[in-house]
Amino acid sequence: MSNIVLEAKNISKTFSEGKSHVEVLKGLSLQVHAGEFVSIVGSSGSGKSTLLHVLGGLDRPTEGEVFLNDKRFDNLNETHRGNLRNAHLGFVYQFHHLLPEFSALENVAMPLMLRKGTQYKEVKEKAEYLLERVGLSHRLTHKPGELSGGERQRVALARALVAKPQVMLADEPTGNLDRHTAKGIFDLLNDLKAEFNMAMLIVTHDEGLARSADKILHMQDGIWV
Ligand SMILES: Nc1ncnc2c1ncn2[C@@H]1O[C@H](COP(=O)(O)OP(=O)(O)OP(=O)(O)O)[C@@H](O)[C@H]1O
Ligand SMILES: [Mg+2]
Repeated sequence: MSNIVLEAKNISKTFSEGKSHVEVLKGLSLQVHAGEFVSIVGSSGSGKSTLLHVLGGLDRPTEGEVFLNDKRFDNLNETHRGNLRNAHLGFVYQFHHLLPEFSALENVAMPLMLRKGTQYKEVKEKAEYLLERVGLSHRLTHKPGELSGGERQRVALARALVAKPQVMLADEPTGNLDRHTAKGIFDLLNDLKAEFNMAMLIVTHDEGLARSADKILHMQDGIWV
């Protein structure tokens, strides 16, 4: 068995509406190995979020294939893809998507609560641990509306990590943070990567931060450059 956990082969993605077609991804391939940290850098509109959505099974490619643990993933139905995503992937969205009615702790606990047979006590402990790791143990009961932008991003990170994913896909996880805090989050991610033996695929605008990855990929107009 190879140690490739996530693989894209010749992915293309075209958004079509009536007669207008926008070709966003143009035949991209990518391999992420177990425990590897890959960063993706590219200017705004180059297709980074679109690629992450396709890799994470949130959207389907127009052409090409995605494999999760050597199994074809993109052509499964929505429910099946959702289950696999919940079991193996952690996703940090560009615009965090926290649930506004729930506390930071509840937001982080949510992915585990959705799993069958998990005990609330255990879930709560794990969520508290992750929130402590992202420096938010003093904000457990705050709702997203009562947190700063950077704090919300850190809650979203904790949520993506709580189920110990094999691969974390993160879209600008430090986009709202000052340089110092952003560096802290990257260091933390590197620690957690080792602790969880997790692969990470992170989109960032910050070349400096990107350099702490094992591999940097540059995207321009839907292709690697
Ligand atoms: N649903 C959609 N329908 C039509 N066009 C879309 C759709 N989603 C994205 N696009 C277009 O695809 C291109 C790439 O978008 P994408 O969000 O992947 O860029 P990005 O690299 O993540 O940019 P940013 O750094 O600003 O987040 C953009 O030009 C965008 O307008
Ligand atoms: Mg984006």
